[in-house]
Amino acid sequence: MDSLFRGTLWTILILFTLSHLTCNMLCPGSCLCNNMGAVKCVGDAITDIPHNLPVHTYLLQLNGTGMNTINERSLADQDLLLRFSLTYSHLHAIHPNAFNVAPQLKSVKLSSNDLSTISARIFSPLATLEQLHLDGNQLETIAPDMFEGLVSLLDLDLSRNKLTSPASDVFDGLTKLIFLNLGRNSINKLPPTIFHSLTNLLKLMIYNNELEELEAGIFDKLVNLVELKIHQNQITILPPQVFWSLKNLKTLTLSSNRLQAIPEKTFYNMPKLTKLTIYNNPLLSLPDQLMGHMPDMTDLYLYATNLNTVPGNVFANMSGLLRLNFHLNDKLRELPSDLFCCLPKLEKLSLTSNDLLYLHPQLFSGLTTLGILLLNDNKLKSLPDNIFQGLGGILTVDLKNNHLETLSGDTFLSNSVLKALHLGGNPWDCTCSIRGIAKWIRKHEHVVLDGQDVICHSPVYQLLRTIGSLQDEEFNFCDAKILKSSYLFTTQTPVVASTTTMPTIMPYHNAHHNAHQNAYHNAHHNAHDNIGDH
Ligand SMILES: *[C@@H]1O[C@H](CO)[C@@H](O)[C@H](O)[C@H]1NC(C)=O
Ligand SMILES: *[C@@H]1O[C@H](CO)[C@@H](O)[C@H](O)[C@H]1NC(C)=O
Repeated sequence: MDSLFRGTLWTILILFTLSHLTCNMLCPGSCLCNNMGAVKCVGDAITDIPHNLPVHTYLLQLNGTGMNTINERSLADQDLLLRFSLTYSHLHAIHPNAFNVAPQLKSVKLSSNDLSTISARIFSPLATLEQLHLDGNQLETIAPDMFEGLVSLLDLDLSRNKLTSPASDVFDGLTKLIFLNLGRNSINKLPPTIFHSLTNLLKLMIYNNELEELEAGIFDKLVNLVELKIHQNQITILPPQVFWSLKNLKTLTLSSNRLQAIPEKTFYNMPKLTKLTIYNNPLLSLPDQLMGHMPDMTDLYLYATNLNTVPGNVFANMSGLLRLNFHLNDKLRELPSDLFCCLPKLEKLSLTSNDLLYLHPQLFSGLTTLGILLLNDNKLKSLPDNIFQGLGGILTVDLKNNHLETLSGDTFLSNSVLKALHLGGNPWDCTCSIRGIAKWIRKHEHVVLDGQDVICHSPVYQLLRTIGSLQDEEFNFCDAKILKSSYLFTTQTPVVASTTTMPTIMPYHNAHHNAHQNAYHNAHHNAHDNIGDH
C-alpha cells in the first residue's frame, strides 16, 4: 500500500514537472503560457503571431505589441485556437483572407487599434464566431455585408469609432445577437429598420453619439431587450410610443439629450423597468399621463431640467421606488401636494438645489419609510409646523442654505430616530419665535451636525450667536410681551413701557460668543436703542 502510494506520488510529480518544462520550452519570448493552453504576449518585439506556440493553445492574447497587420497566414496552423485578441497594437490592416485559416474561432477582439477600413466579408468564414470586438478603432463606415455569415454572433462591440450613419441592413441576419454596442461614435442617423433582425438582443448601447431624433418603430422588434442606453445624444423629440414594444426593458437611459417635452404615455407598457434616467434635459413640462405601471422601479433620476412644476401623479405608478433624485431643477418653484402620495417604500428623497419656495403641509405625509430627506439649497422661507409628522423612520434631514428664519419647536417632535439634521446657512431670526426650536436644538445638540453654522442673522444684538447658545431665560421677556399684548388686547389700556424687560444684560453676558467686536458693540448699542423704543 505504502509503496504503491509513493509510486503514484512520484509519477504525479514527474508528470507535473515534465508538463511544466514542456510548456516553458514551447512558450515564445515575450509571452506567458500556462499549462491550460492560455498564452499572453506583450511588447513591441512582437511583430507577428508567434509560430512556436504550445500546440494546445486555445486562448491567445497579444497586447501592446508592434504588430500592425494580420497577414493571410498569421493565424494558420492554430487549429485549437478559439479565442484570439490583438489589442493596443496600432493594427491598421487585415488581409482579406486572414480568417479563412481559422474558421473555428469563437472570439476575436481587435480593440484599441488603428483600423480605419476593414474589407467586406472579412469575418464571414467565422460561422461559429460568438464575440467580435472592434471598439476603439477609427472606423467611419461599415460595409453593409461586413457581418454577413456571422450566424452565431452573440456580442458585437463597435464602440469608440467614428461611425456616422450605419446602413439599414448592416445587422441583418444577426438573429442570435444579444449585445450590441454602438456607443461613443458620431452617429447622427439610424435607419428605422436597422435593428429589425435583432429579435434576441438583450442590451443595446447607443450612448454618446450625435443623434437628433429616433425614427418611429426603430425598437419595435426588440421584444427581449433588457437594457437600452441612449444618453448623451442630441435628441430633441421622441416619436409617440417609441418604446412600447420593450415589454422586458429594465434599464432605459435618456439623460443628457435635448428633450424639451416627452409625449404622453411614453413610458407605458414597460412593467419591468427598474432604472430610468431622464436628467439633464431641458424639459419644460411633463404630460399628465407619462409613467405606466412600473412596480419594480427602484431609482429615478429627474434632475437638471427646466421644469417649474410636475403633474401630481407623475410618480404614482412607481410603487416600489426606493430612491428619488429630483434635484438641481433650478426653475422648480412648487410641488403638488399629492406628488409623493404613492411611494410607500421610498427611502431617499433628494429635492436639493431646486427653487422651492413653499412646501404643502401634507407633502411628505405618506412617506412612512423615508430615511433621508434632502431639502438643502432651496428658497424655503418657512415650513408648515407638521410637515415632518408622518416621517417616523427619518434619520437625516438637510435644510441648510434655505431662507428659513424660524421653525416651530415641535417641527421634529415625531421624528424620534432622527440622527442627522443640517440647519446652517439660513438667516435665523433670534427673536421670541426662535425660543421653541432653540430649546429643541439645545436638547438635541448631537443631532444638529452643523450646530456651529446655525447662527442668528437678526436681530442685530444677537448677530453671529449660535442658536444652540441661546438660553431659555433670555426669552423670559417674551412671556411678558405676550402678557402685555393680551393685556393690551383685552383692556385696551396703555401699558407703562418700563414693564417690558428687554434683555439688557444679555449682550454683555454672552460677549464671548461674539468673536466680532463690532457686532458685539452694535448689539449692545442696539439693545439700548430697542429699550428706548419701548
Ligand atoms: C493592454 O495594454 C494597455 C496599454 O498598454 C493597458 O492599458 C491594458 O491594461 C492592457 N490590457 C491587458 C489585458 O493586459
Ligand atoms: C398607471 O399605469 C396604468 C397602467 O399602465 C395606466 O392605465 C394609468 O393611467 C397610469 N397612471 C398614470 C397617472 O399615468
